[in-house]
Amino acid sequence: MKPERVAILGAGGFIGSHLVPALLAGREDLELLAVDLTFEKLVSTDPRVRFVTASVDRPGLLDEVTARCSTVVSLTALCNPSLYNTRPLDVIDANYTDLVPLVKLCAARGVRLVHFSTCEVYGRRALDAQGHGTPTMNEETTGMFLGPVDRERWTYACAKQLLERVIWAHGLHGGLDFTIVRPFNVIGPRMDFVPGVDGEGVPRVLASFMSALLRGNELLLVGGGAQRRSFISVEDFVQAVVRIVDRATACRRQILNLGNPANEVSVRALAEALARAYAARVPGAARARFRDVTAETLYGAGYDDSEQRVPDIGKARRLLSWQPETTLEQMLPGIVDDYVARYGLALAAGTSKIVFAGSGGRRFGSGLTFRLLDSAL
Ligand code: UGA
Repeated sequence: MKPERVAILGAGGFIGSHLVPALLAGREDLELLAVDLTFEKLVSTDPRVRFVTASVDRPGLLDEVTARCSTVVSLTALCNPSLYNTRPLDVIDANYTDLVPLVKLCAARGVRLVHFSTCEVYGRRALDAQGHGTPTMNEETTGMFLGPVDRERWTYACAKQLLERVIWAHGLHGGLDFTIVRPFNVIGPRMDFVPGVDGEGVPRVLASFMSALLRGNELLLVGGGAQRRSFISVEDFVQAVVRIVDRATACRRQILNLGNPANEVSVRALAEALARAYAARVPGAARARFRDVTAETLYGAGYDDSEQRVPDIGKARRLLSWQPETTLEQMLPGIVDDYVARYGLALAAGTSKIVFAGSGGRRFGSGLTFRLLDSAL
């Protein structure tokens, strides 16, 4: 049987680097086209993976990808809240403008699109059609409650929401075969970056807290850390995505929340749990310190926040025969170990060189640009 060719746009990022091996483990009859700007997080020697070092806005790239693959998984995004009010135009382009051509090409060529949207489309909190609060966010019944335009935090959610509507319209009126995924706070090894080592600015909360613990700095709690999130382990998450890729018929024209409602905690509780896990894994580490800060202090003007996000995952459970299992207590030790292994030595030595632990395989970097035009994938 001819292998199925699947393109993963953003394969070298946090989620992509977990998704690629999970897809390969589940299926013999797959060939993957892994596209990203860098592949430092993705190690693979599997001959079924072809690496393309390119940006999705490179002229001709999406055209070639959709000509060669029957499914495209689109993961590329600027998805860090510290950018939404500081680089709003880049955020809108990366999450909307650059991806409209992909949607059109998939629709025109009969290519299946598995697109990663975000739980942020629900906005500040869950509201039903009458504007009454509800405990969970549901794909079909929950409204979208974004803040005013001067709260630039919502540039991201708005761009993501508009792309969802473009995809939906191409599906309903143009026959596009799509599945939209709304991830809810996926965490795990290799998430984001440590400022001053392999990135600059404020990463998402897990990496912010890990960076503070590794440096012996205070963990900064925006608004006292009362906001609540539901954290899902990246391992549970990618198992659901593998099933979405496999179950094209069941997932056709569906929007799916993927998260773990059993792991709903306040940001303060996450900070405390992470500090406990860190103390247990790094004996002799300085005692963790916490400090309440305003959102403005950390993010600047125009930030806003979601108070609480709890996914309703009934549809994902049903369509995918899937259930997230990993508790926060189970996932945090492995996450701490990953950050310590990758950044501990660099931070201790005061250098900016990252030490990648346990990478026995080949790493594909920007020096190995794969030229699509010459390839026989
Ligand atoms: C983010 C992104 O906007 C979404 O794209 C993404 O889908 C989502 O994370 C996710 O991971 O699924 P958010 O949860 O608000 O949304 O972002 P985080 O940076 O992870 O922050 C979570 C909460 O922690 C926020 O209330 C933030 O203010 C707070 N925080 C963050 C702190 O209290 N201290 C910090 O050092 C960093």
